[in-house]
Formats: sequence, structure tokens, C-alpha cells
Amino acid sequence: MHFPQALEAVLETLERMRDERAHRPCASRSALDALNQAAPARSSGNLRETKIDPTSPSLRRAGSDKIEQLASVQSRVCACTKCPNLARTRTQTVFGVGNPDAEIMFIGEAPGADEDAQGEPFVGRAGQLLTKIIKAMGFAREEVYIANILKCRPDVPAGSFGNRPPTPREMQTCRPYLMEQIDIIKPKVIVALGAVAVEGLLGTRSPMRELRGRWNSFNGTPLMITYHPAYLLRNQSPSEKRKVWEDMMQVLERLEKPISEKQRNYFL
Ligand code: URA
Repeated sequence: MHFPQALEAVLETLERMRDERAHRPCASRSALDALNQAAPARSSGNLRETKIDPTSPSLRRAGSDKIEQLASVQSRVCACTKCPNLARTRTQTVFGVGNPDAEIMFIGEAPGADEDAQGEPFVGRAGQLLTKIIKAMGFAREEVYIANILKCRPDVPAGSFGNRPPTPREMQTCRPYLMEQIDIIKPKVIVALGAVAVEGLLGTRSPMRELRGRWNSFNGTPLMITYHPAYLLRNQSPSEKRKVWEDMMQVLERLEKPISEKQRNYFL
């Protein structure tokens, strides 16, 4: 079976599972959108008709081979049961979202309840702040790539609220998927959001006030460390927000993007 037909089969199955509200459809909306983008035009059944315009900016930007490679990793993530407790309790896996040709890749900790429900990283309150930061940098959310160290929501005892941080073992187990994402996307800069992202990527544990604002290297890719947006939501002090913005200006400088006066004076 050729790739387009295989993609059709996968899409049909996933769409049917979603329509039938199967107990745990392993298909996030973003995954379906990514597959739909890669699939040839279709016009029948309950599948949305997708016309491929070879001149469309998204296709020109993202080599379709990257879309295929990411879809292949995503299908393995979707079926992953390496952490049985997480596989049992997740609503769905949360792979990553954005432009496969992104210059910047933001990496957070793990899906929270909102992300687990929607299948997309950073869609809750912290995600809204991250999106604001991305826009202030001059990018659309769709232009960058956003992923997490963990692809499953860390389980919490039944009836309890909130999140728990991933364990070192969970991070180690999930790491190869993120490595593959980075290898495929080849961002020019990686931004590690918070201490867990730093630990997952660099294996370093130090206070964030010592780590942030500094350039590191991740397998040769420049990596900037900054505070997690959830920290800024807990700590509303303008000076902490300004620090994150200064870190992001370093990222823009590294990418040789022009920084306007308005951006220089910006406070999140
Ligand atoms: N926090 C994270 O680290 N990742 C998400 O996807 C959402 C919140």
C-alpha cells in the first residue's frame, strides 16, 4: 500500500472512532489536521475535503517528508504503553503542534488536564500566556513548534486536582520521542520552559534563577532556558515577566530577527 492510501485508511479509521465516540480514540484534532494536510484531496464519506495547493505557504514551508516523519513518530506515541500507569489514565497522548519547519521549538513539561482533554500542548492558562509571548515575538503560534518532555499527562490520585511533575524515569522513557521530533524539525533554537524541561533535555537540576537567560547547546542546537509560563501565572511580579521577555529577545537576536523599539520596551 502506498503512503497516500495508507494515510487514507488511517484517517478513515480515526475519523470513524472519533464519530463513534470510541472509548479512547487515539486521535487528537491536531493529529487529524496534520494527516489531512498530508493526504491527497478527498471528497467522499464523512472526511473533510482537502485540496492540496502546492503553492500554499504551509506546504512550501514544511517539506511533506517532515510531515510524514512526524506522523510516523506520532503513531508510535499514540500507541505507547511504556508507562502503564500513564497509558491507563490518559485521555489521549499529546504529541506536539506547529510548523514542522519551525525555527523555534518551545519545550514544556507535560500535558495538564486541558491538554489531556484537547490533545494539544499548551492550551490551558499557561498555554495562553505562551501564545501571547510567541505573538509578542512576532510569530504566529502556528509558525513555531510546541512540545513537551512527556507526551502523557502524569497521573494523579483519583479525585485529586492539579498536576504532578513527571518522574525521572517517565522523562527517560519518553525522551526518545522528543529526540526524534527535534531531529526531524531541526529548529534553529530550542527554548526550554522551566526546570523540568531543562532536566529532561540537559539532565541538569539547578535553581531556575541560575539557569534562565543563558545559552546552552542541545546536540549542537542553541538552547535558551527561561521560566515556565505557569511560574509567571503564580508569580505576577513584573520583574519576573520582564526576565522572560529578555530571554525571548535573546532568542530573536540569535535568529537575527529585527527587534522594534516597541518590542524592546515590552512587558509581558
Ligand atoms: N504545561 C506544560 O508544561 N505543558 C503543557 O502542554 C501545558 C502546561
